[in-house]
Amino acid sequence: MEDTILESGFVDVYIDPTLDLFAEIETLKKEKNAVILAHYYQEPDIQDIADYVGDSLGLAQKAAATDADTIVFAGVHFMAETAKILNPGKKVLIPDMNAGCSLSDSCPPDLFRQFKEKHPDHVVISYINCSAGIKALSDIICTSSNAQRIVESLPSDQPIIFAPDRNLGAYLNKVTGRNMLLWNGACMVHELFSLQKITKLKVRNPEALVVAHPECEEAVLNVADFIGSTAAMLEFVVKSKNQVFIIATEAGILHKMKLAAPHKTFIAAPPDNMCACNNCPHMKRNTLEKIYLCLKYEQPELLMEEELRLAARKPIDRMMELSKVVPIVG
Ligand code: 13P
Ligand code: SF4
Repeated sequence: MEDTILESGFVDVYIDPTLDLFAEIETLKKEKNAVILAHYYQEPDIQDIADYVGDSLGLAQKAAATDADTIVFAGVHFMAETAKILNPGKKVLIPDMNAGCSLSDSCPPDLFRQFKEKHPDHVVISYINCSAGIKALSDIICTSSNAQRIVESLPSDQPIIFAPDRNLGAYLNKVTGRNMLLWNGACMVHELFSLQKITKLKVRNPEALVVAHPECEEAVLNVADFIGSTAAMLEFVVKSKNQVFIIATEAGILHKMKLAAPHKTFIAAPPDNMCACNNCPHMKRNTLEKIYLCLKYEQPELLMEEELRLAARKPIDRMMELSKVVPIVG
């Protein structure tokens, strides 16, 4: 069958099931001097084949530092965009161009521009989970690893707009005592965790610590024993003396947690719906097969207009400057 390549990725591609995709990917990586960067929410096989697995900040830092000619980004669109913004001369491949992000989509640049124009005295801090168009309208980017530090780097009387995640923004307002103006966006995975079900789990596992990502709603964060980025959550469970943890973030992170602390017990926090899944449908669009195909055909490639790239780069550079020392595990 003829391989069909659309802008968004591959269709109608038959892959011989006897092919050792791990070996094929390794060979292609060497041939093309490519590096695979993967987020913790990727499926276990992808995390295992990746050269680096990390949170959004760690991935951006790796993308900025790599000397590979090609970056395969096993994450979502805004992450690959960030890699391209930092590496205009490199080929950035994304296994599935349709791997988007509900949080990023909740903040369209045209609407955000109008909102920003109504508050000309405000500095704009945007969470990295946003499009290049939003980054270009921002003064500083942050991730969940450095958000508090970045907010606190501004004078306490400086009015701030925080976009696009209302949950992370509300959490930051609470811990910093600021009153940032929040864009009303949210992540479809993190806002689904059910306080009721977490409470029931705690009753059955009273020794368990609740470890939550700050994209979760306030009610869940209020019962968390630890709140942090995916990398910080991983570091916490590894270093903690406790043995049992309820993990309130996308379930992909459990793979690295189990590898890093095999004797400990990790319980995925359940979402508030009938489906027991807390997987991000965007992150999970990536598969080992698509990684193999995108390395083989060097498509789909993420491209960006230079004017947009330069405008989006400035607030990322400010973030990088303010984030020189970060704990990265895994
Ligand atoms: P971090 O890995 O930076 O904590 O971000 C989580 C997330 O939702 C990425 O989409
Ligand atoms: Fe976006 Fe949420 Fe998926 Fe992360 S987990 S990529 S924030 S939808």
